[in-house]
Amino acid sequence: MSKSKTAAIVLAAGMGTRIKSALPKVMHPIGGRPMVSHLLATVDRIAAERTVVVIGPDMDIVSRTVAPRPTVVQADRLGTAHAVLQARRELEGFDGDVLVLYGDTPLIAPETLERMLAARRTAPQPAVVVLGFRPAQPGAYGRLVMQGDSLEAIVEAKEATAEQLAIPLCNSGVMCIDGARLFGLLDRVGNDNAKGEFYLTDIVALARADGLTCAVVEGAEDELLGVNSRAELAVAEGVLQARLRRAAMDNGATLTAPETVFLSHDTRIGRDVRIGPFVTFGPGVTIGDDVEIKGFCHFEDCTVDTGAILGPYARLRPGAAVGEGAHIGNFVEIKKAVVEPGAKVNHLTYIGDARVGAGANIGAGTITCNYDGFMKYHTDIGAGAFIGSNSALVAPVRIGDGAIVGAGSVVTHDVESNALAVARGEQISRGGWAIRFRERMAALKAQRKKEA
Ligand code: UD1
Ligand code: MG
Repeated sequence: MSKSKTAAIVLAAGMGTRIKSALPKVMHPIGGRPMVSHLLATVDRIAAERTVVVIGPDMDIVSRTVAPRPTVVQADRLGTAHAVLQARRELEGFDGDVLVLYGDTPLIAPETLERMLAARRTAPQPAVVVLGFRPAQPGAYGRLVMQGDSLEAIVEAKEATAEQLAIPLCNSGVMCIDGARLFGLLDRVGNDNAKGEFYLTDIVALARADGLTCAVVEGAEDELLGVNSRAELAVAEGVLQARLRRAAMDNGATLTAPETVFLSHDTRIGRDVRIGPFVTFGPGVTIGDDVEIKGFCHFEDCTVDTGAILGPYARLRPGAAVGEGAHIGNFVEIKKAVVEPGAKVNHLTYIGDARVGAGANIGAGTITCNYDGFMKYHTDIGAGAFIGSNSALVAPVRIGDGAIVGAGSVVTHDVESNALAVARGEQISRGGWAIRFRERMAALKAQRKKEA
């Protein structure tokens, strides 16, 4: 039964010149994580037991990202066959099925890989299964030369005859190969071709020459999209977003204008969540059931519990935790703070490094002053407290349960439970003063005019 084992080799040695970046191409994110991480998550879902990532020189950042999976460095970029050969030591003695994948082709579905593995394991057990597709523009893709159901060869566009160029079925690059034969076939690949490279695609004709069979499984173009430029990165992002929105809706969320909602690979959204237009979910967001998110909100690394109402224009930054039924209104920013159940923070407020107790009401324009330019300090607001509008709570400070802070206060000392704290200039009133003032000023002005 050793034949049911699966390994994956991910090619990621390309510098990605056309993406014009200091960051290796496969590190560019879609849906909030690097392309290569998407691909590896897919590989994990098919339970590959060994995965090797082939990287270029100076790509430590890729090694760190894919760890603990091993990486091997392809020092010279001599072609796709040469790249796969770099994984030989890591796959020593492996005789299961080997998937070859491209790190810059991140959208492939696990089901597609399962179909390839199934084809490999079905009689006549083809030595090589190639994932083919029919792109709208076949352009530079390798063409799959078929004879009935059997794949005879892959011809690179540069080497193809006019007749072969007319073949609509193309090589996506993804292959599933008999691990017992892979490296033997690769050893025989030469580089006498238009690009002077060692083409992985040559293993098909070599396998056929040995009397082995090769087969094709077809995939959809949108999952086989390769990213070579920022424009293609944006297209891949679009495909991924469409999938994520669809999944959110399938799970029971209403998206009024789905095309304006941006999700991350790990966004978790409960049932009966209503999401208005132009909402962005950065990585690490969990939304409970029955939450209403009005338009133009921005969330990252935060949690929202059942029945909360957010926005429009609410911003939840890392470490924000909004409790059940709490309200977070327009132009409110919450960072590293717990807003307990039923609390209301409805307008123009910054809550950072804080706790807002259950049922507390935070008036418009309240600011937790959490930073002195060097360190961060905590503000603790008790349950049922009422903070009057335009108050500054200078941390570290504690407002007791049920306390009331008068509007416009600058609170620098702790406030006891159920106490009133007012920290602002006293109001003075003088009856009729305005009338006297106007008379005096009018007279003064008239006098000046006469003198001029
Ligand atoms: C390759 C296929 C072509 C297929 C196309 C699909 C070959 C010879 N051709 O062509 O049939 O239609 O992909 O996109 O395989 N890489 C390395 N090291 C190398 C060379 C490449 O790691 O030495 C990696 C690249 O980073 C990339 C992938 O392999 O992720 C494909 O290489 P690329 O040069 O883009 O191959 P294509 O010419 O597009
Ligand atoms: Mg390419």
